[in-house]
Amino acid sequence: MASIRETWDSRTAFVLAAIGSAIGLGNIWRFPYVTYENGGGAFLVAYFICLFLAGIPLLMLEFSIGHKFQQAAPGSFKKITPRLEWFGWFAAGVGFIIVTYYAIIMAWSVNYTYEAATLGWEQEEGVYADAQYAIAETDLADMDVLTAIPDSLIGRSFVSPVTAQNCVICADPPQGSDGYGTILVAFGGYLYGFNTVGDANAFMGSPGDFFFNDFLGVTSSPWDIGDFKWPLFIGFSLAWIWIVASVWKGTKTVSKVVYFTVIIPWVLLLVFVIRGLALPGSGKGLEFYLTPVWSNLMSGKLWLAAISQVFFSLSVGFAIMIAYGSFLPKKTNIAANAIIIGLADTITAFFGGMAVFSALGHHADSLGVPVSQVVSSGPGLAFVAYPHIITQLPGARIFGVLFFLMLLTLAVDSAFSLLEAVTAAVKDKWKTSHRKANLIVGGLAFLLGIPMLTGMGIHILDIADHFMNSFGLTLVVLGEVLIIGWGTGAEEQRQYINRNSSFSIGIWWNVCIRWIIPMGILWMIFSEIQDRAVPYGSFGVRSQEFLFGWLLIILLPIVSDLLASSRGRGEGL
Ligand code: PFF
Repeated sequence: MASIRETWDSRTAFVLAAIGSAIGLGNIWRFPYVTYENGGGAFLVAYFICLFLAGIPLLMLEFSIGHKFQQAAPGSFKKITPRLEWFGWFAAGVGFIIVTYYAIIMAWSVNYTYEAATLGWEQEEGVYADAQYAIAETDLADMDVLTAIPDSLIGRSFVSPVTAQNCVICADPPQGSDGYGTILVAFGGYLYGFNTVGDANAFMGSPGDFFFNDFLGVTSSPWDIGDFKWPLFIGFSLAWIWIVASVWKGTKTVSKVVYFTVIIPWVLLLVFVIRGLALPGSGKGLEFYLTPVWSNLMSGKLWLAAISQVFFSLSVGFAIMIAYGSFLPKKTNIAANAIIIGLADTITAFFGGMAVFSALGHHADSLGVPVSQVVSSGPGLAFVAYPHIITQLPGARIFGVLFFLMLLTLAVDSAFSLLEAVTAAVKDKWKTSHRKANLIVGGLAFLLGIPMLTGMGIHILDIADHFMNSFGLTLVVLGEVLIIGWGTGAEEQRQYINRNSSFSIGIWWNVCIRWIIPMGILWMIFSEIQDRAVPYGSFGVRSQEFLFGWLLIILLPIVSDLLASSRGRGEGL
């Protein structure tokens, strides 16, 4: 039975759905921590360049592929040539792996909504204070940090109350990975000394300590499973129920849900930016965020981080925008839609960064350390930095709950866009009902996420995130630009876009698709691989982890090929 392909309720519904897919945790959770890890300002410059030279042109490309072939990614590539169907599944597979850990961050947010309501992250301050470890008496108020260490104390030995280790007071030289010389904190009329910011945070009962130790129970390596966190399992299940329910009836449900999931979080984000900026010391954070160190732009690693963040943020390379393009009505406006979506997404990320960096500036200021040292970066950053701002707000509980609801509403439409894209591909091939396809795809992703609810979860998440972004999304995009740019022809595709847009895009688009994007990606991947000896992120890379990442990347095309060669309903009987 030839059925008419489902379409969006209206152009606004499509634009909102695509914006909803693009704007997500990538903007508020991932963008700030990747920016922080890559040194702030220079990363931002690379991000903008990649957005205009790659991100927006690729959005146009993906919408036009779906619109032209009227199929999700596997079906679209199959229409180009049947030998390429596997590539569409590969793109869907990369997105699928991403959604397995994306839902974990949603689970953190579900549970943090509760923690916010009870201010669970505000641990008792000074829990380690024990006068036998005190260095000297002081008049300073509890939790004040001594900004300059008096010469008379330098060289004296002390015991850190957090680690019970012997240390020597030094004013400056960094000690340990997150350290910054000695930090002296006042409590109960005494000064206590710490060698690392992490230890000082633990003493001061920081949200970071709560997140990593209590909430996640993080183990010291990905090979140490740790405890299964049942409360997280509940949050995780709720997150998945919400995702699946949102796309229960395909584009019809999505067209309605997105009005809420896009507009509400935006208003909330503005509130957080304004509050963050008003915190004392926020300027220090913004300076770090906005001042580029130009020499960093020579690093291929930084560019790879920037371009893969652009892809992640715009949902490019996930097979999503191809599926969403395929639901567009015949008469549409591809180029304008791509520009609107690209800019809306970027503005949101920029604001997300403002909120986080102003909080970091404030925190660094109160500890008297540079912004680059203030917290261990990585996937936990948002769950440490935002609670920090929230705790300072009057009505902290309400703002906290609103904040995590905002994260969830932002995330849900990204997660369901992926579910919808893979569901559409399954439906195109096996002609299953929408509900059945939804449940199978969602159920499988749910099962794959379960190991990440343990103490090793954040390690796995960090590795999968790094590999899927640096190599998964970039390889998908590389494939797309080679297939279209050099195979079927960039010029033909450009004319197709122009026939379906209110204005024409110039020949520059062909140059981006044929030359700039593939050459850029090849250079970045090459220099990243060369850099491999260096740890990639907060949780470090060792060779076994590297192996796990590459195993994922190698397994995916094999599984994709199997899916492509399995026989669909009504095919080649
Ligand atoms: N564009 C999304 C974001 O920035 O959060 C990324 C995303 C993740 C989309 C997972 C879809 C998805 F399933």
